[in-house]
Order: sequence, then structure tokens, then C-alpha cells
Amino acid sequence: MKVHWIPGASLGIAALYLGVLGIGFSHPNLRTYAPPTAPPNTLGWKAPSSEDIPAGAPGELIRSGRRIFRATPWFASDHAGNKLSCGDCHLAGGIAPYSSPLVGVPELFPMYNSRAGHVISLEDRIQECFTRSENGTPIDYNGPEMRALVAYIEWLSKPEPGRKKFAGRGLVKLPGLTPDPRRGALIYGEQCAGCHGTNGAGLVPQFPPLWGPDSFNDGAGTNQIPKMAAFIEHNMPQNRTGTLTAQQAYDVAGYIHQQPRPAFNPAYENY
Ligand code: HEC
Ligand code: HEC
Repeated sequence: MKVHWIPGASLGIAALYLGVLGIGFSHPNLRTYAPPTAPPNTLGWKAPSSEDIPAGAPGELIRSGRRIFRATPWFASDHAGNKLSCGDCHLAGGIAPYSSPLVGVPELFPMYNSRAGHVISLEDRIQECFTRSENGTPIDYNGPEMRALVAYIEWLSKPEPGRKKFAGRGLVKLPGLTPDPRRGALIYGEQCAGCHGTNGAGLVPQFPPLWGPDSFNDGAGTNQIPKMAAFIEHNMPQNRTGTLTAQQAYDVAGYIHQQPRPAFNPAYENY
């Protein structure tokens, strides 16, 4: 559970949710911590609201998908292999621009995927994040987790009158730079370790791990320095976004890339 804005989440729900997970705001960083505001609506795109969730079984599926998305190790515990939630990388519940948002993604599938070497479905793509970013095991395509996640992503993407085209797909485009991991180590110590820990383990679930056994594996997209740098440049440090230069983002990504993490299981090469 993150302490920043999530579509449709009221403070009450957030508090209840933290209660369910048994989490308190005890970490010292949180005393001085100012959560970022909701993504600006200047683009005209309106975030879906919880009130738009339909009643009955279809609505339950969407809510279940939202829970899995926000707290994957707890709500998809049989398949998540680490302590990362989808929402740790797809920010604000999958709607924040330039954090690989999932708004409008269903209509892009099926698409050719160079990593898989063939055309993949949305379910295949979710599976990739399960076996790589979540360092987990594949989920059943017709099982409850997959159906719930697809329902949630489709709900985020539902076209509605007055809801304009979403802008900010993927990650920001940075020039290709050469990272300097030694400079990155200094940046990490000054600007990242306060939340993610000097050992990279974070403080789950408020602050996700960046390396070590509870992080993504070496087959994940985020394990590529340019992708991690692009994520970091736009989205981190979470309390002061937009302050790092592209070079600094590369440097710190280069440093993180030198640290140990789980190995991708080649049995899942197809995902
Ligand atoms: C460690 C970070 C991380 C985690 C955790 C993660 N993802 Fe991703 N995901 C990414 C990145 C980075 C991309 C874009 C990948 C690329 O360009 O290779 C992506 C792409 C995707 C896409 C395709 C989006 C597009 O624009 O084509 C989907 C769908 C997706 N993720 C779903 C999920 C779901 C569902 C979960 C949780 C079960 C999850 N991800 C967990 C990092 C993550
Ligand atoms: C104020 C606390 C805070 C600081 C400082 C901070 N982060 Fe984060 N970071 C978070 C949180 C919380 C998330 C999960 C996404 C979200 O909720 O915004 C996150 C997510 C991430 C992720 C993707 C998820 C993962 O675990 O792989 C990366 C990579 C990352 N941070 C790198 C950095 C780097 C590099 C710095 C320093 C330049 C930094 N962060 C500074 C709080 C912080």
C-alpha cells in the first residue's frame, strides 16, 4: 500500500486497508513525507472513480483486480515470488503518466513482442510481469487472478464521453547515456536510501525493494539500465520528483544494476 494518491481511494479506505495489512505509519521518513498530488488533469483525461465500478459480479472482479494490483504479494500470494506489487512500478494504480500506465493498453493487444519472439495477448503480457517483475510463477489464464487483473485494466481503460485520450504512455524518452555507478552510489545514499534502505530492501509495503531476494529478477524490463533510468528520472525520488537529471538517473540505475537480484527462471522463457 502506497501513501500517495490512488484513483478513487478515500482516506477511510486507505486507513482500513493499512489496518487490514497491519501496517502503521511508524517509519521516520513518513513524518516529513509529503505525498505527491494526483496527476494533473491538464491533459483533459479524467481518472475513473470508484463510483463507476458496476454493481454485482463484474464489479467484484474489478475490485479484486485492484486489490491484487495494489498489494500483489498479499492478494496473489500463490504466484508472487517477491515483495513487489504491480502498483510499485505502474504508479497511482496504473494511471500515472510515464510509469508504464495501463490505461488504454487492452486495445493495443494482441501485439508482437520481441522478447517473446511472437504475437502476445494482454494475458501473456501480464504473465511476463508475473514471471519477471514479480519473480513469480505463471498464473492460470482462466484463473481468478488473471480474470480480475484484466477486468481492472479494462475498467481503467473504459472509454467514456468526456474522458479524453490518455497521454503519457510508457516511460519518458531519455537519450542513451553511459552510467557512472560510482556517482550513482553517492546519489543513492543521499536521495534513495532513506526510503529504499542502504541494503536496497526497502520497507515493505510502503517502500519497495530495489534489489535482493524480494526484488524483480534479472529478466524484468526494469533490470535494463535505460528503462530503469527512464522510470527513475520521471518518478523518483518519490518526494521530489523531477529533480534528477537524465545523467543522474542513469548513474543511480547503473549503481542499482550492480547489486544482486534473483535470476529469471528460463522455464518461463515463453513469457
Ligand atoms: C518491477 C517493476 C514492475 C512490476 C512490479 C510490474 N511491472 Fe508491469 N511493466 C513494467 C515495465 C517496466 C513495463 C514496460 C516494459 C517494457 O517496456 O519492457 C511493464 C509493462 C506492463 C504491461 C504492458 C504495458 C504496455 O504499455 O504495453 C502490462 C499489462 C503490465 N506491465 C502489467 C503488470 C501487472 C498486472 C503487474 C503485477 C502483477 C506488473 N505489471 C508488475 C514494470 C513492472
Ligand atoms: C520518499 C520515499 C522515496 C524516495 C526518497 C525514493 N523512492 Fe523510489 N519508490 C518509493 C515508493 C513509495 C515506490 C513505489 C511507487 C510509488 O508508490 O510511488 C518507489 C518505487 C521505486 C522503483 C520501482 C519499484 C521497485 O522497487 O523496483 C524504483 C526503481 C525506485 N523507486 C528507485 C528510486 C531511486 C533510484 C531513488 C533515489 C533517486 C528513489 N527511488 C527514491 C519511495 C521512494
